[in-house]
This record gives sequence, structure tokens and C-alpha cells, in this order.
Amino acid sequence: MSTPFKIGLLALSSALLLTACGEPEDTRPGQPVKHRQQAFKEIIKSFEPMGVMLRKGTFDAERFDKLSAELIAKREGPWSYFGVDTNYPPTKATGEVWKQPEAFEKEKQAFIAATDKLQEAVKGRDKAMVEKAYDAVHDSCKSCHKQFKEH
Ligand code: HEC
Repeated sequence: MSTPFKIGLLALSSALLLTACGEPEDTRPGQPVKHRQQAFKEIIKSFEPMGVMLRKGTFDAERFDKLSAELIAKREGPWSYFGVDTNYPPTKATGEVWKQPEAFEKEKQAFIAATDKLQEAVKGRDKAMVEKAYDAVHDSCKSCHKQFKEH
């Protein structure tokens, strides 16, 4: 076996390994699927630490306030990337997003309203109220995912 051939095989197998554990790349112009998935990952980066604080009993109103402001800043991120004809791999969205646009919009508005309430609750510094408002945001994620995201 000549050396260049061996190198070629190695490069090929590592390329296969990379794609085997990941998902198909979004190769469309503008990469809308990739962008909206990244936007959701950004949302969860601010949302998850709030949940951790509440569960661990390490509620810190100031830090919580910062995270909830971050969540509000990120909450518009995904939606403009759900354009017509963007239901293709590697999306985890269900076809319902495009079949039921009004219902999808309603879920989105409920999520946005819930994040407003969360921030209001944080300003009140009352942990029980914050907990309730956090759960309501969590329910809004779950409610939308139930119909519009594959599991
Ligand atoms: C209005 C509907 C809706 C709301 C509200 C919503 N999501 Fe999603 N989410 C989706 C859809 C649809 C996808 C699938 C996107 C895709 O793969 O194209 C998704 C994907 C995700 C993903 C996966 C991203 C990836 O790696 O592919 C995460 C994480 C996520 N959402 C977290 C959240 C969290 C946390 C909340 C609430 C704080 C939330 N979402 C609120 C609809 C919603």
C-alpha cells in the first residue's frame, strides 16, 4: 500500500467518524436549521442555570435577575429562522410548525409572556413567586415541544 493511499484512507475514516456521531450538516444557504437550533441552545444556556439554582436551593436574586434578563434578550432568536420550506434534516421540528402556524405563534407568544412574568417575579425578590414563574416558563417550552418538536 503506498503512503498517500494510506493517508487518504485515514482522512476518510476520520471524516466518517465525525459525521457518524453527529447529524447531517445544514448545507442550505443561510443555514436556517442550524441557526435556529443554535438560538435554542443559547436560550437553554440562560434558562437551565436558573432551574439548577432553584433545585439546589442556591437561589441568588441578583444572579437570577441577570439570567432572566439574558433569557429575554435571547427569546426572539429562533423564530425568524422558521421560514417556509425549512423543514429538512437535521431539523427536529415537526411538520406541524408549517401546518399550524397560528398554533405555533400562540405557543411562542405564551413563552414570551411567561418570560416577562418571570422577570417581574425576580424584581419582587420573592423565591416562591420566582419558582412559580420559572415553572410557567418551563411549561411553555414543554407545551410547544410536545406538538412542534420531535423527541
Ligand atoms: C413556540 C415553540 C417553542 C418554544 C416556546 C420553545 N421551543 Fe425549543 N424548540 C422548538 C422547536 C420547533 C425546536 C426544533 C428546532 C429544529 O430542530 O429545527 C426546538 C428545539 C429546542 C432545542 C434543541 C436545539 C438543538 O440542539 O437542536 C432546545 C435545547 C430547546 N428547544 C430548548 C427550549 C427551551 C429551554 C425553551 C423554553 C425556555 C424552548 N425551547 C421553548 C420549539 C419551541
